[in-house]
Amino acid sequence: MQLTAIPDGIVRANNFGIVDTDVGAPNKGQVLVGLRRLGLNAGLAHRLGGEGTPYGPGIDVGDVPASDAVVEVLVSNVEELRTGDLAVGKVPWRTAAVVDGDELRKVDGAVPSEGLEAYLTILGHVGFTAYTGMIHVGDIRPGEVVYISGAAGGVGSCAVQFAKAYGATVIGVAGSNEKVALLTDVLGADRAINRHDGAAVDLLRDAAPEGIDLYYDNVGGEQLEAALEVLNFGGRVVICGAVGSGSGSGAPANYRRLIYQELTMRGFTVTAHEDLRVQFESEVGGWLREGKVRSIHTVFDGVDRVPEAFESLLAGGSSGRVIVSVPSQRLGR
Ligand SMILES: NC(=O)c1ccc[n+]([C@@H]2O[C@H](COP(=O)([O-])OP(=O)(O)OC[C@H]3O[C@@H](n4cnc5c(N)ncnc54)[C@H](OP(=O)(O)O)[C@@H]3O)[C@@H](O)[C@H]2O)c1
Repeated sequence: MQLTAIPDGIVRANNFGIVDTDVGAPNKGQVLVGLRRLGLNAGLAHRLGGEGTPYGPGIDVGDVPASDAVVEVLVSNVEELRTGDLAVGKVPWRTAAVVDGDELRKVDGAVPSEGLEAYLTILGHVGFTAYTGMIHVGDIRPGEVVYISGAAGGVGSCAVQFAKAYGATVIGVAGSNEKVALLTDVLGADRAINRHDGAAVDLLRDAAPEGIDLYYDNVGGEQLEAALEVLNFGGRVVICGAVGSGSGSGAPANYRRLIYQELTMRGFTVTAHEDLRVQFESEVGGWLREGKVRSIHTVFDGVDRVPEAFESLLAGGSSGRVIVSVPSQRLGR
C-alpha cells in the first residue's frame, strides 16, 4: 500500500493505492513476516507530502508508510524467532515484508482474551504511552481530578482507564455523543464532555466545579487553554500530543496562568522511557487479566481497507485505536 497522491488538505482513502511488489527473502538476522494486525496513527497524516516533521520523516508519492503491527513469522533467519511466532514492531503497510529481527519484540504467552488487537492498544504503544504519561510523568494520585482530551482515542482510552485504576476522578472530552457514552458507560470515566457542545472552557468549568489537578493533553489548542483556566493551584499538565493545535506552535495564549497558579507543564517522549516497560507489562497485564481494563479499538477487515480505515481515523469517526485485521498467511491455518 503506497501513497499515490499528496493530500490536498483532507486526507482521503483515494490518496493510497495497492501495488504488487516482490518481497524478497530474508538474509541473516532478518525475518519474513506476514501482517496480522496493523495499527494506524493520526500523526502519520502530518508527514504525507514528503516534508519531514517532528512526527518523523516525510512520506512522498510512491513511498510505503509504516505503522506498529502484530506480525506472524513466516520464514526466520533469527535464532530467537521461529515460524508461527507472533511479534510486535513497526513494519511497512504490506501483507508481507522482510524486516530486521531486532526491530521486532516477540509476543510470549497466551493471546489475551481481547484478541491480538490488545497488543496494539492497552498492551501496545498507545497503552505504554498512556502509562508513561499518566503514571510516571503525571504521577496521578488517588482522589485527584484529571481531565483528559482525545479521551476516546487510542492513547486517551488507555489514559482514562489507568487514571481510574489509580483511584482518580476522571473527566474525559471527545468529539461525539457515542464517544461520550463510551467514556462513561464502558471506560468508567466519572464525567464526559462532547467538545462540540460549546466553548471548551465553559464546558470544562461546568464539568469540573471543583477544578482539576492534572490535565493529560493529547490535542493542545483550545483544550489546553481551557485546562490552564480551570487547573487548581499547583496543578500539573502532561503534554502528550498536539493533534488539535493545527500547524502553528500550539503555544497557549494564557500561559501566564502557569505563574499565577504555580502550574507545571511537562512533555514526554515515550521512546525515552523503555525502562518502564517491564513495570507497564506487569501492572497493565494484571489489570487486563482481572478485567479491570480493556482494549478499545475499531477493526477494519482486510488490507485493502487500510485507506478507508485511515480516513475514518482522521475524520474522528472511530473509537479507540483503529486497526486493520489480516488473516494468517501460513498454510493450513
Ligand atoms: N508523547 C509521546 O511519546 C506520544 C506517543 C504516541 C502518541 N502521542 C500523541 O498522542 C496523541 C494521541 O494519539 P492517538 O494515537 O491516541 O491519536 P487518536 O486515536 O487519533 O486520538 C486523538 C484524538 O484527538 C481528538 N482530536 C482530533 N482533532 C482534534 C481537535 N482539533 N481538537 C480536539 N481534539 C481533537 C480526536 O478525538 P475526538 O474527535 O473524539 O475529540 C482523536 O480521537 C497524539 O497527539 C499523538 O501524536 C504522543
